Amino acid sequence: MTGPGDRREADRDRAADRDRREDDRGRPDGGNAGRDDRDDHRDADHELRVTKIRNGTVIDHVSGGLALTVLGVLGIDGSAGEVVSIGMNVPSDRLARKDIVKIENRELSQDEVDVLSLLAPAATINIVRAYQVREKHRVDRPAQVSGVLSCPNPDCITAGREPVTSTFDVLDRSVRCVYCETILDADLTDHVDIG
Ligand code: CTP
Ligand code: ZN
Repeated sequence: MTGPGDRREADRDRAADRDRREDDRGRPDGGNAGRDDRDDHRDADHELRVTKIRNGTVIDHVSGGLALTVLGVLGIDGSAGEVVSIGMNVPSDRLARKDIVKIENRELSQDEVDVLSLLAPAATINIVRAYQVREKHRVDRPAQVSGVLSCPNPDCITAGREPVTSTFDVLDRSVRCVYCETILDADLTDHVDIG
């Protein structure tokens, strides 16, 4: 179904395309060469790359190249029919290149946001309802995370038979098990265990 909002957006995109063609006509090369970062930024401004969503969560300002890792730790692989759009290595004002992950009809839990904060400390989480950004949160790197990562040390008390909730101190570039001091850094995403 196409609503008036969609149409307005399509009009805007068409107008953006038209502006670009008109700009390019004035160039000696007809606009074919010399596509530099300025052009890229204009694309970003006009949202040509990834379409807007009606309801769901937009995880924006993820470091370039990490989008698939973000989906992996959220346990999203499309097999449950989730509607997901990804932009990878999109030019950004705040980061050199950013990834964007848009997940329709899904809002993230606090545990999921905690794990995201470890992978993507600059991320912004936007909750979209009826096409509008209703909430915008910068992820907050907590001092500790509990119950979202499993300790890889088989001798750790959290790996024993008694249920002990895993807890890690969050350091600058890694996390450390409070029970056995095992450090997780680059391999952190292999040990995510949410809910
Ligand atoms: N977005 C979307 N669908 C909507 C509304 C917004 O996918 N219906 C996306 C935008 O494409 C953008 C993000 O959600 O990637 C945040 O939207 P918005 O707050 O409008 O953009 P900015 O002001 O540029 O955000 P920021 O200041 O956080 O960079
Ligand atoms: Zn441990």
